[in-house]
Amino acid sequence: MSVPVLLAVTGASYEDALVDALGRAPGLVVVRRCVDLADLLAAAATGTARAALVDAGLRRLDAEALARLAAARVEVVGLAAPGDDAGERRLRQLGVCAVVPADAGPPAMAEAVLRRLDGSADRGAPGGPGPEPTRPDEDPGGGAGSLRGRLVAVWGPTGAPGRTTVAVTVAAELARAGLPTLLADADTYGACVGQVLGLLDEAPGLAAAARTANAGGLDVAALARAAREVAPDLRVLTGVSRPDRWTELRPAALSVVWERARSLAAVTVVDCGFCLEQDEELVYDTAAPRRNGATLATLDAADVVLAVGAADPVGVQRLVRALPEVRGLAPQAELRVVLTRVRRGPVGSEPQARLTETLERYAGVHGPVLVPDDSAACDTALRQGRSLTEAVPASPARLALARLAADLATQGGAPGQGGPRRRRWLRVGA
Ligand SMILES: Nc1ncnc2c1ncn2[C@@H]1O[C@H](COP(=O)(O)OP(=O)(O)OP(=O)(O)O)[C@@H](O)[C@H]1O
Ligand SMILES: [Mg+2]
Repeated sequence: MSVPVLLAVTGASYEDALVDALGRAPGLVVVRRCVDLADLLAAAATGTARAALVDAGLRRLDAEALARLAAARVEVVGLAAPGDDAGERRLRQLGVCAVVPADAGPPAMAEAVLRRLDGSADRGAPGGPGPEPTRPDEDPGGGAGSLRGRLVAVWGPTGAPGRTTVAVTVAAELARAGLPTLLADADTYGACVGQVLGLLDEAPGLAAAARTANAGGLDVAALARAAREVAPDLRVLTGVSRPDRWTELRPAALSVVWERARSLAAVTVVDCGFCLEQDEELVYDTAAPRRNGATLATLDAADVVLAVGAADPVGVQRLVRALPEVRGLAPQAELRVVLTRVRRGPVGSEPQARLTETLERYAGVHGPVLVPDDSAACDTALRQGRSLTEAVPASPARLALARLAADLATQGGAPGQGGPRRRRWLRVGA
């Protein structure tokens, strides 16, 4: 049986020749010639097609549109006019993994579509950002193709348990150890990494990167330009300057940002929002923006999730109740539990032993990271607009988080196998 495909090449110079050729493509049948992106998305939503052949020049094609095609389970194969390298590159940066020349001929196109469909059966879901296309001038040492940094998502339930403090300190420690580290603020409720680090210029680094990613223009160099270098080996993508700008952090674009981040930094640490709700009423409206989409996309991409809870009865209960959901949202990630502000007051004597035992009994968590209550040091760091690492290096809270960072730094395999390792920043002149 032939595979039903949508065609969206309106206006391309090769349109007529292509339509003629596709009539002879083995195994494909064009069920609709779409006049524009809206037409393509509407046709995809009907479920009548399994793939779409899309021209690189299709107006308004962006990461969000590709996410909607993926949600409709329509595989995308890009078409680029002969010699249109920029178009091909843009498609790949948007996450279109299969791009064929428009004059490739019917058998080659049919093969590309069928290969995509075969691959999607293995992947489980179509779409998603592909790796950065290799370019010979983007080699930070080791070959761009071999680089694959890790993504650490820092999440915690409501109640300000210390997510930002953990994210900032762990990132600062990784950088101090010589690992190029990217710290990103994806909290759509209360972004504050920029303020915590004393960055007075509130340029929305992550939103800018997401915007560029959505338009298909985010390569590693563009990401580096959006991420300010605040210390040796530490770059920061600040968050949205006002909570009502959360719509600028769309999950489809963020997935591309995280993929590029893996090529830029050995470790990317992301401060996430607390809320995991998926806005059930909106689930059927795949085009509706979701405030928690940024956190969900980050958890989905993460290699490690640091689940941060406050070390008091309320904080521990919130964390324990949320952990199954976090595990479900990041099934591939290693989950590490971090309890902050560990003290006797709300827990009683021997708080370390009590908290460890409680987590083991109610959540099956072994060996949580326990960060001592250290208000004086945290206040000093906040006042100075610096990380604990810089402001109060001898503080017990910093030392506990430094041990966690050292653990993370040695994880992930040997150089060349995708794990964090010492290397220089990509030379992008940023
Ligand atoms: N180990 C600690 N000891 C004492 N105070 C701490 C500790 N960790 C964090 N704090 C303080 O707790 C407060 C909340 O921390 P933080 O901003 O990191 O939490 P959050 O989970 O990111 O909160 P939000 O919900 O606002 O994003 C801050 O004033 C911070 O300085
Ligand atoms: Mg925070």
